[in-house]
Amino acid sequence: MAEWVKSGWRTKPRIQMPEYTDEDALNAVEAQLASYPPLVFAGEARRLKQELGAAARGEAFLLQGGDCAESFEQFSADGIRDTFKVMLQMAMVLTYGAKVPVVKVGRMAGQFAKPRSAPTETVDGVELPSYRGDIINELDFSAKSRIPDPRKMLQAYTQAAATLNLLRAFSTGGYADVHQVHSWTLGFTEGEKAAKYRDMASRISDALDFMKSAGINSGTSAALRTVDFYTSHESLLLEYEEALTRLDSTSGNWLAGSGHMIWIGDRTRQPDGAHVEFCRGVLNPIGLKCGPSMTSDDLKVLLHKLNPENEEGRLTLIARFGAGNVAEHLPRLIKTVQEEGANVLWVCDPMHGNTIKSTSGYKTRPFDSVLREVREFFGVHKAEGTIPGGVHFEMTGQDVTECIGGVRAVTDGDLSARYHTACDPRLNASQSLELAFLVAEELSDLRDSRQAKAI
Ligand code: PEP
Ligand code: CO
Repeated sequence: MAEWVKSGWRTKPRIQMPEYTDEDALNAVEAQLASYPPLVFAGEARRLKQELGAAARGEAFLLQGGDCAESFEQFSADGIRDTFKVMLQMAMVLTYGAKVPVVKVGRMAGQFAKPRSAPTETVDGVELPSYRGDIINELDFSAKSRIPDPRKMLQAYTQAAATLNLLRAFSTGGYADVHQVHSWTLGFTEGEKAAKYRDMASRISDALDFMKSAGINSGTSAALRTVDFYTSHESLLLEYEEALTRLDSTSGNWLAGSGHMIWIGDRTRQPDGAHVEFCRGVLNPIGLKCGPSMTSDDLKVLLHKLNPENEEGRLTLIARFGAGNVAEHLPRLIKTVQEEGANVLWVCDPMHGNTIKSTSGYKTRPFDSVLREVREFFGVHKAEGTIPGGVHFEMTGQDVTECIGGVRAVTDGDLSARYHTACDPRLNASQSLELAFLVAEELSDLRDSRQAKAI
């Protein structure tokens, strides 16, 4: 394969990227970013790769979640804390119910650039370029707001650094201590799942009390006091990615310093395109979104290009086919992976294949379709004897009304009440917890049926 340089993507066909008009400003921003510290370190990316390798073997489970698009305007410590808190709760449900360690990865601290289904948007007869995420242009519908401005990359970097700083503090500063399992409850003090969570939290507390009285010092154990929390985003805006790429002096390999894990979107995974070219050369774990249009031939090429050494944990295939379509597509891609003898981690994104326009005009996702796609994903893996190793959600700790359904049912008419996303509709805290219980059930059923087979 051709040698890799961090600017090599520039000679490849690129799509879904802005055409910056002010070249001097762009060059100045790139130079500035290139002089800044990376946000993450190579050792962390390598550790995540090992943990994802364990998930691919069924010895751990990936929980990846966060905003569809992070926003400059809605940036707040409380917002970060609440999403982090819900992810901790979900992880606890999965660990407790399914007896597997959970690898926690936020769609956070860099998830700013968005691919769009159309290059322009027309409102009342006025056509303007589409909004492409706060790192590129502005959501507000005016000609000026939609001009891509390279200086936004600096604001995105600053916000990502501050977000990561807070996440690191939450992860290790006492907040994520398992003894706090009761205090993570949020927003769902009512309802069946909330009661189920409280019950589980009480059992965990009892177990910790027991350990303490038995003289096992759970109070100082780092494993109980801290968590590993990683960051991820779509590697879409390659000028930003390249400017934050650094040489890892210990291994001589290149690190995308913008986040621990980066992924390639379903729209930008052309085997000869710019995005694949950039991602193939960095040492980070790479995600690859696989929608219904992914062909077996393309997947074959991508498996080799993105993971030439067939390293465990390097490549995560994120299936996003839509409820009702999983049985048609997942088995053929699993077959391709098996034929190539490729090491991959299979993850289910039940969000992006299930977006619809509601009768009230909002983009939404029926919670039932989300649940159904998760069930179908587990069903196919069960039938194929392969490993469902994780889930990928768009979610928030805020009590939004963006996806319809759930135990505390959000209806079509409710959508306008708290619809805050800058892009795709997210699960709220209560829907996220409900989903975690479903996934835990699927995982423990799978474990029981495999154990029964083994006997
Ligand atoms: C996303 O994850 O926000 C996204 C755009 O996904 P996909 O590439 O799968 O459509
Ligand atoms: Co999205």
